[in-house]
Amino acid sequence: MIRTIEWTDEGVVMIDQRRLPTHELYPIFKTHDEVAVAIEDMVVRGAPAIGVAAAMGIALGMKNSDAPSLDEFDRDFHRVCERLLVTRPTAVNLFWAVERMRWAFKHGRREGASIDEIRKQLVGEALDIHREDVESNHRMGSFGAELIPDNATVLTHCNAGSLATAGFGTALGVIYAAVEAGKKVRVYADETRPFLQGARLTAWELAKENIPVTVITDSMAGHFLKSGEVDCVIVGADRVAANGDVANKIGTYMVAIAAHENNVPFYVAAPLSTVDLSLNSGDQIPIESRADEEVTHFRGQQVAPEGVKVANPAFDVTPHRYVSAIITDAGVAREPYDTSLKALFER
Ligand code: MRU
Repeated sequence: MIRTIEWTDEGVVMIDQRRLPTHELYPIFKTHDEVAVAIEDMVVRGAPAIGVAAAMGIALGMKNSDAPSLDEFDRDFHRVCERLLVTRPTAVNLFWAVERMRWAFKHGRREGASIDEIRKQLVGEALDIHREDVESNHRMGSFGAELIPDNATVLTHCNAGSLATAGFGTALGVIYAAVEAGKKVRVYADETRPFLQGARLTAWELAKENIPVTVITDSMAGHFLKSGEVDCVIVGADRVAANGDVANKIGTYMVAIAAHENNVPFYVAAPLSTVDLSLNSGDQIPIESRADEEVTHFRGQQVAPEGVKVANPAFDVTPHRYVSAIITDAGVAREPYDTSLKALFER
């Protein structure tokens, strides 16, 4: 089993995803600021994993706080939350997890808990978020596995597996569940420029699970979708708007269009913690812009002229009309998403 992120007495232990697949390293992060930098630098990435990291970062920050009074502890808590909130803007799981930690903090304050008791409650809440994420991925897997035919060829983009979550994964969780149910599945993994989550992480994870995987460059996806050999596409999401528009890794939109054009079902697997009902449409989802060097350099090697202008949006939005179904941890939603997604929250 892949240990993406763990709480220990020494600090938060995370597999360094920047070093995979060649180095499997598990550094310890000892302060909330180190966890925040780890999120920014993509040591840990993937919407649910970012949420868990933020929650553990807050618990760590408050464990380290030497505030002598509850009022100062309160101020420290808000400062720590603010630091984690500005790490990455697109995945709503981060904001959702910080909100849960805020709720736990307020609850402790209301109950008249001591500083030490609140510290323990915050650690407990972060561990709950971690455990619930694994459980929700297994639920998503069992709902989604039914959509995967036997002997299926599935195309995926980015990494929405164990590494992107507390464990098991969303899109890859569906594939793992289908395989556990006795189905044969082979996977095309888009390499996912510029950060190579597909080539480095998805291929590594699937190979570990003995699931046949073929890495292709992003520009090959259309070719394979047209060839007739792909039965469906499954991707994860960073934020799903109330109307079913899906923000996911840059390049997902092109895959969705090519799938639609070729009548290949395009599935999104995402827990309800990724669904943001406060946004009517995907146009309102903030899209992170990352450093130019991710585009101008390839694994440290310069591949574009010095000083050239670069754009590097990390995510794009796929309109809901291209989404065949959204597999959540509460069931499968289909068009019209504004009613089907809402109904899943009310279950
Ligand atoms: O920039 P990243 O690697 O954090 O982007 C990750 C993705 O886009 C994933 O597909 C998404 O977070 C779903 S992960 C279960």
